[in-house]
Parts: sequence; C-alpha cells; structure tokens
Amino acid sequence: MTVATAVNSDLATASVHPAGPCAIVIFGAAGDLTKRLLMPALYNLAHTNLLPKDFAIVGVAHTSMSQDDFRHKLRQEIQEFATVSVDNQLWQQLEQRLYYLSGEFQDPNTYRQLQNLLQQVDQECGTQNNYLYYLATSSNFFCDIISQLGATGLVQETEEYWRRVIIEKPFGHDLESARALNKNIGSVLKESQIYRIDHYLGKETVQNILMFRFGNSLFESVWNRHYIDHVQITVAETVGVEGRGNFYEGTGAVRDMVQNHLFQLLSMTAIEPPVSFDADAVRDEKSKLLKAIQPLTPEDVLTHTVRGQYGEGIVKGKSVPAYRFEPRVASGSNTETYAALKLTIDNWRWAGVPFYLRTGKRLSKRTTEIAVQFKQVPSLVFRQTSVDQLTPNFLVLRIQPDEGINFQFGAKIPGPTVQMGSVNMDFCYADYFGTTPSTGYETLLYDCMIGDATLFQRSDNVELGWSVVTPILDVWSALPTREFPNYAAGSWGPKEADELLRRDGRQWRE
Ligand code: BG6
Repeated sequence: MTVATAVNSDLATASVHPAGPCAIVIFGAAGDLTKRLLMPALYNLAHTNLLPKDFAIVGVAHTSMSQDDFRHKLRQEIQEFATVSVDNQLWQQLEQRLYYLSGEFQDPNTYRQLQNLLQQVDQECGTQNNYLYYLATSSNFFCDIISQLGATGLVQETEEYWRRVIIEKPFGHDLESARALNKNIGSVLKESQIYRIDHYLGKETVQNILMFRFGNSLFESVWNRHYIDHVQITVAETVGVEGRGNFYEGTGAVRDMVQNHLFQLLSMTAIEPPVSFDADAVRDEKSKLLKAIQPLTPEDVLTHTVRGQYGEGIVKGKSVPAYRFEPRVASGSNTETYAALKLTIDNWRWAGVPFYLRTGKRLSKRTTEIAVQFKQVPSLVFRQTSVDQLTPNFLVLRIQPDEGINFQFGAKIPGPTVQMGSVNMDFCYADYFGTTPSTGYETLLYDCMIGDATLFQRSDNVELGWSVVTPILDVWSALPTREFPNYAAGSWGPKEADELLRRDGRQWRE
C-alpha cells in the first residue's frame, strides 16, 4: 500500500512509480480468475503506467494450446472483462510479452520447461530473474506447485533477484489444516516470499479504514469503549452460490467469508495504531487483535452465534430456489449460507463493546458496511425530548456498493418547541474522486511486485483467524441443526440473528 498525500483527486496518484523488472508466472492461466480479474487488473496497471517497463506474463496450465492461441484467447477475453475500454496499441504491447507453457502441475518436467522458458523471457524482456508466481489454481495444488518450484530452484532468491508466490484462499479448512499448509509451504519458502491474498484488502474502502482512523485526529479519540456502544459488521450478498455448490457444500459461510473477509474488516476497525505502515507493523497489530478476541466456549457458541440456510424466495423481484435445490448441493445439506456472531475483544480499548458480525447469501440487499454505534448522552437537558427518543450517533463506513462514509447525528428540528431529529452527513467516494472501475486486484499485484506485504496475510494472522472460528465449526458440526432452511431468500436472515441483538437491547441496521 503506497501512501501519498492528496488534497484533491488530482494529487491522489502522486509519487507512485512503475514497479521494477519482473515476470509474473500464472499457474491456472486458462482459468476463470485469470480472465476475469488478473488480466484486467494487469491491463489497468499498464494503463496507469504502473507495470514495469521490463515485464512479461507467463501462463502455465494443463490446457494444451500454443503461445499464439493463448495470446488470441486473452485478446478476446480482455474485450469482455476489462473494466475500462481497451486501447489496442497498449494491449499489443502487453500481448507481445505473453508467453504460455502447457503442462501438468505435478509433473517435474513442467518445471524444467518453465525454467528454460523463464531464461528465454529474461533475455527477451529484461525481467532480470525476478519472478512472481501467482497460484490461480485450486488450493489442492498449492503444496505440489510450491515444492516443485523449490526442487527446480525456481524460488531461490539472491541479493540480486527476488522470487515471490501469491496464493488465494482457502488457506486451510480449519486450524489444523491451516497449520499444516503453512508448515508445508514454509519448508520451501521464507515467510517474506509468501503473499496470501484476501481480495477484501484490495478494496479501496477497506484500505481507507486505516486512513480514516489513523490519518485524522478527530475520530481516534472517540474510538474506544468510553464512547462506542457496539459495532456491527455486515457483508450481505444477494447472490446465491453461483454454480459453486460443490465447493460451497464443504465450506459454508464461516469458512468462506467470516474467517477471512469479515475478520479483515474487524481487524482494520479495531487494531491499535501500528508504529508504522510497514507490513509487519500492521500485521503485528492484527495478530494482537485476533489474539484478544475472547475464545468462545461450546456454551458461548450456542448463545453467541447463529447459523442459517436460505430457502426459496424472491430476490430483486425474481424467484430463486432454496440452497438445497442449487446444483451440486445435497438435498439434506446442513451447510450454512448465513452466519452471525457476537464477539468481544479483551483489551483496554474494547472491553465491554460487542462486535456483531453477520454475512449471508441471498439476502435482501447487497451491502458491506461497518456501523459504529456511539453511546447515548448520559442525560438530556432539552425539554420534551427524553434520551430514549433520540437515535444514537452512528458512523457508517460503506465498503460497497455506493462507497462512502455516513455520520448520523441529532439536530434541532426548526420551530418554537425544542425537538431533536436525526440527520446525516454523507461522504461519497464517487463525488470526490470519481469512479475508476477496477477489479480490486490492481493494488495487490502492484504491491507484490514492489515487495510490500502490508495488504497480505501473514501465517500467524491466518492461524489466529482459524483459532477463533474453529470452536464454532466444531460445535456446529457436532450438533447438526434440524431447522434448515431457516430464512427465506430475499429476507435479512434468520430471526435468531435478530434475537441475538435484541437480547442485548440492540438491533441490526437495515
Ligand atoms: C469470495 C467468496 O471470497 O468473496 C464468495 O468465496 C463471495 O462466496 C465473494 O461471494 C464476495 O466478494 P465481494 O467482493 O463480491 O464482496
């Protein structure tokens, strides 16, 4: 994350330079991630002049095709998936730097060929032995690919050149498997070479949480248990499992969303100020925060968590089937498509402030937001207005869509009587900075090329996330629910989730 100051949008990209020479090797180059996100993101980096001058992309996949076929395929796909209109000249320049190798990920021969190809690429494109490997494959291949790269000497670094590996979630299935994965890849790579992507950290508005908190003196002084009543973090989706029933059946909302994306939002909201914006300084704070989450006992799991699964319903005016009727989903599936939890953080800043987290598929509206509710004033001096009648102050960080920040506070309603009403101050990103459509991967790819791991997860961050959710998953799997489906598609989730807050005298924002 490159930090530059800006007083207006014109200055926002000041002091950002193209990355240094390197080749990016994409394993799984014939797949969905490459065409939908990676290539459009690389194109956007080229467009904003942030790609290295000496650059190449090497695709590796088991699909058999020639280099020309590969170039042709990507040329067609970029037209469909680019987030900006494609400039032919710029694409031509990028296309000349596209290479392809077809091979099986488990076959040592693939890596010998890759070694030769990379030597050729270094000569032709001046990439100087700096390689970034992007594993855009199923996580089943991570260990094999990394160990083969290790065996071929392709991840060996020297003083002169670097080698880095980006992997995508899932980073394990629970605490034990995450530890095993970290141990396995850690036997080949140094931690500084491993870049674990959480695409939520590529979102501008998520990065902005740290700027908002630590770049403004106003908010930090009230960002604690003395002023904050509670925090609600919502990641609501209207989509279902989008044909990924097979994957989702073994995953569920906690593994798919809570352990990673929601915990990133929680961390950004609740960490202590890091001593700097160095990767390790920020990631140390995240680990401290995750360690401070009070572990849930099996009894807590019963009272502090809610799981749900959608039944049929109407979303955005269209009838949609129940989760159990989605393709490749078991008819008696117990997989949760919704999860809500109440967490407490045992430290001086947050003692006694509940954090309510919820996420679900097929909900009423797509929205990701962090809502901070402030405490009520201790006593109200105005006539005819009791404290109870007042809406509390809310600060809402809108992550997506309609990105922005909203502050809700009380104001006098004009007139001879003294009455208060709730009003809003609203900041919209689009109004200030315009909208530059992006994939969310641009910053992450660029940061990896320049060796800045701030927005990537360190092994301890991942394991700590798993240690918070594993007790929940254990209790849920030991006590399969008979209640599913327990919310209608198009609703705001199961009624038990409302009850979770109502018991504390609170309610979800809708
Ligand atoms: C992915 C999950 O990590 O994030 C998906 O696997 C989910 O199930 C997606 O839909 C949500 O991402 P976004 O950026 O659309 O909020």
